[in-house]
Amino acid sequence: MALQLGDTAPDFTADTTDGPISFHEWLGDGWGILFSHPADFTPVCTTELGEVARLKDEFAKRNTKVIGLSVDDVTSHKSWAKDIEDATGHALNYPLIGDEEHKVADLYGMVHPNADNTLTVRSVFIIGPDKKVKLTITYPASTGRNFEEILRVLDSLQLTSDYSVATPVNWHDGEDVVIGTSVDDEAAKEKFPKGFKAVKPYLRFTPQPNR
Ligand code: BEZ
Repeated sequence: MALQLGDTAPDFTADTTDGPISFHEWLGDGWGILFSHPADFTPVCTTELGEVARLKDEFAKRNTKVIGLSVDDVTSHKSWAKDIEDATGHALNYPLIGDEEHKVADLYGMVHPNADNTLTVRSVFIIGPDKKVKLTITYPASTGRNFEEILRVLDSLQLTSDYSVATPVNWHDGEDVVIGTSVDDEAAKEKFPKGFKAVKPYLRFTPQPNR
């Protein structure tokens, strides 16, 4: 069965462009993002990997490590890295896993045979400090991902893991959030001293509590 939210992210050892890693140990105590791409020396993947390199500081600010994967080997990844820098202006600054035997791809269900028998699809797994899967996204090979959206979800995941709130449609960091339905109005007054606005009894907006 496919990995689901709340499952423990499978641990593995692998060779990467930064040397061998043991995944859980590499993650440490922070957040992690494991993302797959279909193949090296391909156009969409080149743009994606450059973009993730550009966003390195944004991930670091969120105490989040990123690691990529494809079913090509590390020698190929290292050679492609030169093109990525050349084409996007951003040198690879995070590891890429070589997974030519599909060891990690199979553990995480990254090959979808009815889409393509051999290549990995564009999967994203956000993993929390407890090593549980917090988010999964799957895009087809033909569609590059929006990594600003992945940062936005990360902001929501980190906020909602610390406070009894949820984030409404199209929310961005700094905007009002909604109070969880498990918190009644009396408790909400205590927990959210900035106050709240009840649009419906179950829809109560409050300023982002950590701002
Ligand atoms: C790409 O990155 O452009 C790509 C890779 C595999 C299949 C289709 C597109």
